[in-house]
Amino acid sequence: MKNFNEHNITAAVQARVANATSPRIREISDSLVRHLHTFLREVRPTEAEWAAGIDFLTRTGQMCSATRQEFILFSDTLGASMLVDAINHPGGDGATETTVLGPFYVQGAPEFPLGADISEGLAGDRLLIEGNVKNTAGEPIGGATIDIWHSDPDGYYDVQGPADAPLNMRGRLHADAAGNFWCRTIVPAPYPIPNDGPVGQMLEHQGRHPYRPAHVHFMIAADGYETLTTHVFLSHSPYLDSDVVFGVKDSLIHPLEKLPAGTSPGGHPINQPIDLMRYNFVLSKQRK
Ligand code: BEZ
Ligand code: FE
Repeated sequence: MKNFNEHNITAAVQARVANATSPRIREISDSLVRHLHTFLREVRPTEAEWAAGIDFLTRTGQMCSATRQEFILFSDTLGASMLVDAINHPGGDGATETTVLGPFYVQGAPEFPLGADISEGLAGDRLLIEGNVKNTAGEPIGGATIDIWHSDPDGYYDVQGPADAPLNMRGRLHADAAGNFWCRTIVPAPYPIPNDGPVGQMLEHQGRHPYRPAHVHFMIAADGYETLTTHVFLSHSPYLDSDVVFGVKDSLIHPLEKLPAGTSPGGHPINQPIDLMRYNFVLSKQRK
């Protein structure tokens, strides 16, 4: 086939992918071609605009490194990450709601005993995190693995610092036999997602701010259960209604409780004023 034009090229490309190596690759390729061509017929880009689009994607790739994932930011800021999340975690079974993973998760974060200070003594308002992990039947999930990570009071993650800076404000805990876990750290702040690259330029052109409301990330895993990737958002934070990555859900917004020194929340004595975040998590049974 030859002599392609605006009207016959879509079917021609679809025919070319018809012998894909699996039905799923065929389905995805066919749909991608159909939607891409529909987009182009609707937008009718000039050649300069199309070249600018290619240049944007090129710079997005070039910006990526071991510590900077510009494509995740692109996906997050266009709502694609939350749409994939919604498709895969429709909810409704009583489990804790999910939200974006984001680019600052680090595999193999340091392990801490329950009660440890995962900020490793960083300056900031002290925060005690207490939680519980149960299944949808209300049974405790003893030994669940809990990854926690969050920003500093200036809104930066450890991995945004110099390459040789230590990991902090992140750690892995294991719930006790009753599913309880707790640790100490510092109160995180709202922050702009990294906006010194192509995605930052896109946000500016789209007339959008780059901020996320203050939150703590949790990833909770246990044998026989779906791994839960979520945040707890601080209820006093700005940007809860305009999170740049569309990640906020009402059920994940939670107040901090101000506690004076000398109290023992959850049986954990504190010797200085502290904010308490107490949140109970519920995991879904693993899907077959
Ligand atoms: C985060 O919460 O760490 C995050 C999520 C999406 C984009 C940038 C950061
Ligand atoms: Fe975050």
